[in-house]
Amino acid sequence: MTVSRMAPKSLYKQIYEGYRQAIVEGNLRAGQRVPSTRVLAGELGISRIPVLNGYAQLLAEGYFQSRVGSGTTVSASLPERAADVRPVDRRPRKIGEERRRVSKRCANLWSPEGFFGSRGLGAFAVAQIAFEHFPLAIWNRLVTRHSRSVRAPSLDYGDPMGLKELREAIAAHVRTARGVRCEAHQTMIVSGSQQGLEITTRALLDPDDQVWMEEPGYRFARSVFAGSGCKVAPVTVDSEGLKVSAGAKKCGAARAVFVTPSHQYPLGVMMSASRRLQLLDWAESHGSWIIEDDYDSEYRYEGMPVTSLQGLDRNSRVVYIGTFSKVLFPALRLGYLVIPEDLVERFLAARFALDIGPATLPQAVLADFIGEGHFARHIRRMRRVYGERRSTLVDNLRRQLGSAVEITGAEAGMHLSATLRGIRDVELSARGAGENLRLVPLSPFYMGRAARQGFILGFGNTAVPEIPAAVDRLCKLLRSRQP
Ligand SMILES: Cc1ncc(COP(=O)(O)O)c(C=O)c1O
Repeated sequence: MTVSRMAPKSLYKQIYEGYRQAIVEGNLRAGQRVPSTRVLAGELGISRIPVLNGYAQLLAEGYFQSRVGSGTTVSASLPERAADVRPVDRRPRKIGEERRRVSKRCANLWSPEGFFGSRGLGAFAVAQIAFEHFPLAIWNRLVTRHSRSVRAPSLDYGDPMGLKELREAIAAHVRTARGVRCEAHQTMIVSGSQQGLEITTRALLDPDDQVWMEEPGYRFARSVFAGSGCKVAPVTVDSEGLKVSAGAKKCGAARAVFVTPSHQYPLGVMMSASRRLQLLDWAESHGSWIIEDDYDSEYRYEGMPVTSLQGLDRNSRVVYIGTFSKVLFPALRLGYLVIPEDLVERFLAARFALDIGPATLPQAVLADFIGEGHFARHIRRMRRVYGERRSTLVDNLRRQLGSAVEITGAEAGMHLSATLRGIRDVELSARGAGENLRLVPLSPFYMGRAARQGFILGFGNTAVPEIPAAVDRLCKLLRSRQP
């Protein structure tokens, strides 16, 4: 053993780690004697104190043992490792290989690498808001107010359903804005729609249960179902939304269906009244659940806001999921579930297994933000901002691409879907990055053969003056696709 006074680690730590490593790597065997503290201190030319401290730590953790008369030895109960002394093998192995087995379910999930890789700033980024328009001064004032007034009792676990004031504010908002039938006691605050979906899946579904998903559909949702061992059955979406008859024919016994009826993700179509009623009838007659993801319909630019599917349900078959990721900002990680009243206890049990409850501080800030009227004002203001961005984008796409582009889903939210014939969207999206275009390709949203190629174009964070030039760059990219 060697130690150095010049090393950044203390002498005691060097002695402790030196012995521990020698034992773990099998260089010192169980029962082997180690020098007395006096002898080692002499050999190393240091005082006895660090040696005593190092030995004390090794004794406390069970690497050493000491018996009167026989001095200090390596603990006799340590497993024999001498035969197994090999450097740590860091070669990548195939997932599923016996020694390094990981969950097969997880291995098959969609990796969000591409999602974060395609983020950053650039024209048409999806799921980004107009960051510069967020009322930061107000938000910061509320954050400061709450972080300065933390009292001892608020350090305890909070209400596992979420802060009561926030639940009341949300229930009032979704009742009026979205026609959701709900009260605060059935509203659960969650960490974004994603956690809401995870809790819903755990509360309602078992491994091998079949779940219908819109085809094309939201990949983050697919991952939750697949991660829970459910079997996902893709069901075609047409201009009226999910084709209920096709789902019933293909997989009539499904336990649940995941839908985005107000603004289908990614195509953007709105589910027609007749499909809504068909879906509710199917769920009622099969005892199945409808999971409604209503993620961005605060912003609707044409006609009246569409009421939620949950608002039409008379049989408590719908779980409604809402989020603040679009209407406020995604880093907030706050969303909510509206749970059928008789299932609240089940959902709470599922939630306890995950996180016990939501963090209290951001909820208090948000409750005040809504309560003081900033939320309603922000939505009104942003509807104008996004509305202008959206019309500019639609006009430019139509003018430059004419009938070569089919635009869907521009009536609501902060993105639209542009179907383009004869392109390879994944390849073009990669090349678009070099042109400062964040193009999310459409085809990977299909589980089966992609019926459409094109892009999801976000306009949330692409300002009006940037749009014409960005559409020019997109057209140039499309023209360059043939060698
Ligand atoms: C279909 C859909 N649902 C939900 C969300 C929001 O998810 P979260 O609330 O977990 O941020 C998004 C965001 O882009 C979305 O596209």
